[in-house]
Amino acid sequence: SSSTPLVVNGRSYSFAKKCVASQEQIFEKIDAIAANIAIDYAGKATAENPLILICVLKGAYLFTADLARALADKGVPNVVEFMCVSSYGKYTVSSGEVRMLLDLRNSISKRHCLIVEDILDSARTLDFLYKVFMTRGPASLRTCVLLDKPEGRKLPFVAHYRCFEIANEFVVGYGLDYAEMYRDLRDIVVLKPEVYSPKTASEMHKVPDSKL
Ligand code: XMP
Ligand code: MG
Repeated sequence: SSSTPLVVNGRSYSFAKKCVASQEQIFEKIDAIAANIAIDYAGKATAENPLILICVLKGAYLFTADLARALADKGVPNVVEFMCVSSYGKYTVSSGEVRMLLDLRNSISKRHCLIVEDILDSARTLDFLYKVFMTRGPASLRTCVLLDKPEGRKLPFVAHYRCFEIANEFVVGYGLDYAEMYRDLRDIVVLKPEVYSPKTASEMHKVPDSKL
């Protein structure tokens, strides 16, 4: 209910109703995924030609940071590059259009690249990015997602690496936001419905038209 906080390994969230992945589960999965990546890129990712982790801002920033360190633990040389797309705006429903807001700074020609994304939902974002980066002549291009919502798919797309498959619910935490909030949570949670109602967070701050 609305008054009962969600408690995840001692961390209390008054605004959340359910945990879909705890920090401990996330770290364990990242470690396992990194082990798989280490096998797949053995002899390909080297100190001279490190694997490029393409971090899709903002949602993937924490996931990328933890994946990069897990890969270092497994002896996979890697570097991080950042890029930013927008598709959702402030709302929880996709607008269906993908825009590149910030492109990579360096060429990826002849480089092994792994796109690191927070969540695969409709697949519009990753389908768009995969096609864009393939035109730039990488040595290889794969995708790694923290979360996969198979029910949300509008385009057929399968990620090479994925940590958690989840139901078709909006989630926040560990980099994922609702109106830029909750990215700093250690756990991935579902918000209580009253957090959204009656209007979106941004609309609640607006002065009604009649008062202008
Ligand atoms: P698509 O539909 O392009 O979605 O596969 C990928 C992008 O949509 C956002 N997204 C979410 N963000 N909680 C969020 O905070 C969610 O449950 C969610 N579902 C999709 C996300 O930005 C991702 O990059
Ligand atoms: Mg977002």
